[in-house]
Amino acid sequence: MTNKVTPWEVQGSVDYEKLIKEFGVSPLKELPSVFNDEILFRRKLVVGHRDIQKILEAMKSKKPFVVMTGLMPTGKFHIGHMTIARQFIFYQKLGAKLYIAVADLEAYNARGQSLEDSRKNAIEDYLLNYIALGLSPKNCDFYFQSDRSKDGKKASAYYRLQNLLARHASFNEFKAVYGEISPGKMLSSLLQAADMLHPQLPEFEGKVPVLVPVGIDQDPHLRIARDISQRIKPPFIQLSSTYNIFIPGLGGGKMSSSDPNSYIALTDSEKEVENKIKKYAFSGGRDTLEEHRKLGGNLDIDVSFQYLKFLFEEDDKKLKKIEQDYRSGKLTTGELKEITIEKINNFLKEHQKKRESARKLVGKFLD
Ligand code: TRP
Repeated sequence: MTNKVTPWEVQGSVDYEKLIKEFGVSPLKELPSVFNDEILFRRKLVVGHRDIQKILEAMKSKKPFVVMTGLMPTGKFHIGHMTIARQFIFYQKLGAKLYIAVADLEAYNARGQSLEDSRKNAIEDYLLNYIALGLSPKNCDFYFQSDRSKDGKKASAYYRLQNLLARHASFNEFKAVYGEISPGKMLSSLLQAADMLHPQLPEFEGKVPVLVPVGIDQDPHLRIARDISQRIKPPFIQLSSTYNIFIPGLGGGKMSSSDPNSYIALTDSEKEVENKIKKYAFSGGRDTLEEHRKLGGNLDIDVSFQYLKFLFEEDDKKLKKIEQDYRSGKLTTGELKEITIEKINNFLKEHQKKRESARKLVGKFLD
């Protein structure tokens, strides 16, 4: 399989170290201790950053900061999407103002999905899941790229920024960063830069630092936005960003919305979870029980273990025990899968209840 990592598409396996080196992202080392409350930080799914100091300083001195993210509502919301959601909800609880863009124009230009379908999926699937995961309507600006705001001054400021940014980017730059570029993708890229930068405009929050937590494949968008943001007068406060690696898909490759056997959706039933884990979750176990008992399992490639580690087993001691037992061969693949199925299903049972009661809050997020 060919390896291809662009912000539009990820194919094959991803060489994270190479990405970090090539993209010039710094490894994420020491973080203030509050970050340890969130297992994605504690267990190091978030691996890199640019300019995170600005955000840490704002947090320390209790100054305002914004966390900005965008979602492309082209498929079912799955456990891979939870990684970004949990990060921005974590920041909201720490006092950040959130900006969440539904990238419906990007979905239209890059994937050919209608604005109506994007709107429906963004609300019925993404937003309901965000609310069930703990997103609060307070300090949250949830908007559609195609319909920024009912407030004309705000809407103009956002689309004006996209247009003004255009002068400060060159065609070759787009080509170098994206490889392949069309007018629609170019506009999407500029609109995404406007997504990240517009919170700093006087019509919005004024001069505040903005953090954009993304999957490592989205860095090209950030490089463009960061470069352009310093060429325009007056320059913006440079964007901060963090980078997480991906939760593997069931088969071990990327979790992809277009392949239901690669993901667990937050709307999956108990039975579906059980089937998917049993049938598709790539195992680091050995071929025979005898070998497994002798040699132990390989945790690095075991998908069930990754799900427990990054999402579903919050208790460090329990995780450690599972790790030791699997590595020593005491725990079999079948048993590890049973633990994983139970953990996921317990989570989903609660989550799906919360998701239903989230419906009555949806209106509070839409203006
Ligand atoms: N390009 C992102 C995606 O494919 C969506 C997006 C749009 C976004 N605007 C953004 C992400 C701003 C982060 C920040 O999912």
